[in-house]
Amino acid sequence: MSETPQPADLIVFGGTGDLSMRKLLPALYHSDRDGRLAPETRVIAMSRGGLDDADFRGKVDAEVRGSVPVDDLGVWQRFLGRLHHVTVDISGQDPTGWARLAGMLGGHEHRDRVFYLASPPMTFGPFCREAHRAGLVTPASRVVLEKPLGRDLASALRINDEVGAIFDERQIYRIDHYLGKETVQNLLVLRFANAFLEPIWNSLWIDHVQITVAETVGTPGRRGYYDHAGALRDMVQNHLLQLLCLVAMEPPSRNDRESIRDEKVKVLQSLRAVTGGEVDRFTVRGQYTAGESGGVPVPGYLDEPDNTAPTEDSRRVETFAAIRAEVKNWRWAGVPFYLRTGKRMPYRCSEIVVQFKDVPHSIFPGSTPNRLVLRLQPSEGIQLNIMAKEPGAGEVALKPVPLGLSFAETFTGRVPEAYERLLMDVLAGNPTLFMRRDEVEAAWRWIDPILDEWESRGTVPEPYPAGSAGPAAAHELVGRSGRVWHEEGLA
Ligand code: BG6
Repeated sequence: MSETPQPADLIVFGGTGDLSMRKLLPALYHSDRDGRLAPETRVIAMSRGGLDDADFRGKVDAEVRGSVPVDDLGVWQRFLGRLHHVTVDISGQDPTGWARLAGMLGGHEHRDRVFYLASPPMTFGPFCREAHRAGLVTPASRVVLEKPLGRDLASALRINDEVGAIFDERQIYRIDHYLGKETVQNLLVLRFANAFLEPIWNSLWIDHVQITVAETVGTPGRRGYYDHAGALRDMVQNHLLQLLCLVAMEPPSRNDRESIRDEKVKVLQSLRAVTGGEVDRFTVRGQYTAGESGGVPVPGYLDEPDNTAPTEDSRRVETFAAIRAEVKNWRWAGVPFYLRTGKRMPYRCSEIVVQFKDVPHSIFPGSTPNRLVLRLQPSEGIQLNIMAKEPGAGEVALKPVPLGLSFAETFTGRVPEAYERLLMDVLAGNPTLFMRRDEVEAAWRWIDPILDEWESRGTVPEPYPAGSAGPAAAHELVGRSGRVWHEEGLA
């Protein structure tokens, strides 16, 4: 990243929506506060909302200020002063808003210009066409696409074609905010800046890998989106597969924009397809019913408060998914990768567990295999469980003890939010932590047969009470081969 921030125009389509107010604007404020935005940089929210600049600044003052540290009112006022609002219509019928935007951007063609599409995927193509028609796409422009990128391979291909008709691939930034999380980047450092792990990072030493993203939240008010997404599209196709890629990839030759993405795509292409009857053996889906969260009674998925009533889609959608995946290459042959994610789980916990094999020959009773746990949230850290002797005379008694690194205790600075890091990368023109077209398509290629099989059966997901660790079948998925889920974070 260059030391002196360059002036940029960041145009956020869906700029008054939930993502913008909860994540993007707070992230930009933090960057401003840290001196990482040039004085001339502007943030232009676009929506159908009919607001003027003053209305939008008032809205941000009312809704965002409480969620960020405002220790210097001058900095907050400076940040508000960067904000603008333009009302647009992407159907192409009313060009007024586009003309206004063109007027604002005119004369600044050499600035970095970022179009951030924080809107549903079906708007990506129309937005790009209209922006092009209005003459706004300059060589220095970039476009950021929020997930989900489509709902299957066919729709992802279509969106990629539509956006690709206007922007070059080098200008397209497909965001997966998990790649901006500190611990996720630390996984790359752990693997490729330390020599000791590489010789044992393979099927000779590793028994299996578990990747869990468990959330306590449910989906109140999200039925419109979630009924048509479900855990597989919402979490597995992107976040969990990206984590799998970082664990399984070969060492890249450089830390540059293409080398890491080249290696990740090879992992996705090596995933063994789960098709036909295998879907029953290798996948589990669940939907939460009424239960408890943090000691408070909560409704089931179908009874979540929403302004639309549940439909047949609601009954069929999964809020929990678990899959046994395999990476078919020399390094990982025979090592299962268990993926699991769910809403309304007992605790919030995102972690990668690398379970090593047992010693080849044990001379002590009671030894258990080593385990490396990479905790992404909460309390980011790395923990290696090793066997130690319990102090005392007589028989040798063993105990697994943790060797731990807590990021909060080791590093005292503020840990930036994923969106902050990623937005600064877009402004700096660094796409390393963004998904390339072939990556997204390879992920859908693996997900599609599972979705097709689930959908063609027309069955409903297995129920699990809110606050439990998912349906019983998820335990059978690992239990069939004598394994168990790592439940320390979920216990
Ligand atoms: C989003 C999903 O991509 O990630 C949400 O759409 C989910 O359903 C969220 O809650 C989880 O992100 P995080 O950073 O809170 O783990």
